[in-house]
Amino acid sequence: MSETTALVTGAARRIGREIAVSLAREGVNVLIHYRSSDEEAAELREKLLELGVEATVLQADLKEKSDLSALIPEATKKAGSIDYLVNNAAVFPRGDLEKLEFEELIDNIRINSWAPFYLTRDFVESYDRGKVVNLLDTRVAGYDWDHAGYYFSKVLLARMTKMMAVKFAPDFAVNGVAPGLITPPEGLDEKYLEERIDRVLLKKHGSESSVARAVVYLLRSNFVTGQILYVDGGRNLLHELEG
Ligand SMILES: NC(=O)c1ccc[n+]([C@@H]2O[C@H](COP(=O)([O-])OP(=O)(O)OC[C@H]3O[C@@H](n4cnc5c(N)ncnc54)[C@H](OP(=O)(O)O)[C@@H]3O)[C@@H](O)[C@H]2O)c1
Repeated sequence: MSETTALVTGAARRIGREIAVSLAREGVNVLIHYRSSDEEAAELREKLLELGVEATVLQADLKEKSDLSALIPEATKKAGSIDYLVNNAAVFPRGDLEKLEFEELIDNIRINSWAPFYLTRDFVESYDRGKVVNLLDTRVAGYDWDHAGYYFSKVLLARMTKMMAVKFAPDFAVNGVAPGLITPPEGLDEKYLEERIDRVLLKKHGSESSVARAVVYLLRSNFVTGQILYVDGGRNLLHELEG
C-alpha cells in the first residue's frame, strides 16, 4: 500500500477530479475534499479504490472559518498523514471592474486566496515536509475585465504562492499551475471554448488531464519551488497585446 497521501480540494468534479485520478494512477492515496458534490465525491472514491489506492471523502465549506480550520486536522485524523496539498477549489463569478463591490471582492478572496493560504500554512505548521500546488489562472499574467473579483483573488494567490515558497523552504515546495482555456464555465458548452481559441497561441483548448499532469509533475519534482507553470497553449504571452 502507498505511503504518500494527497489532499485535493474541490476534487469531486472537473479539473479537481482529474487531478485526483492522476494522483491515484501514480499510486498516491487521495483525500477527496468537496463542498456540495457529495454523490460525485462518493463515485470518485469508488473509482480511486478500484485503482488500488486509499481514498477518503471530506466535506467542508471553505467560506466557513470553522470548516476551514478543521480541514487539515480532519484530513490528518482520517489519513494518518498528508504529503501533498492541492488547492484546487475556487469560485468564478462574473463581475465588471466598474461595478465591483467590496463584499464581492472579499467573497472571491475568501475562497480563492485566503483558503489556499490558510490551508498551506496549517499544513506547514502540522508537518515536517511536504509539497503544495495552488491552482491559479493564465489571467494572472494579464487582466480579466469581466471577472474582476476573481482576477484579483488569483493575482493575490500567485503572489502568496511565491512568498510562501520563500518562507516555507527548504522543507516545503510551493508552486502554482495556471490553466488557460480548459473547460467551459459551469452551465456553458464547447462553443465557449471554440469562440476563444484565437486567444491561444497553439489554436486549441487544453484538457483537464493536461492540467493534472502539470500538478503531478510539480508534486513529484524535488528541485522546483515558487514557480508558476502555465498550462495555457501560450496564452499568457498574448495578454500584453490584448490589454
Ligand atoms: N476550468 C478552467 O478552464 C480553468 C481555467 C483557469 C483556471 N482554472 C482554475 O482551476 C481550478 C479548477 O477549475 P474548475 O473549473 O474545475 O473549478 P470549478 O468547477 O469552478 O470548482 C471546483 C470546485 O470548487 C469547489 N468549491 C467552490 N466553492 C467552494 C467553497 N466555498 N468551499 C469548498 N469548495 C468550494 C466546488 O466543490 P463542490 O462541487 O463540491 O461544491 C467545485 O466543484 C480552479 O482553481 C480554477 O480557478 C480553471
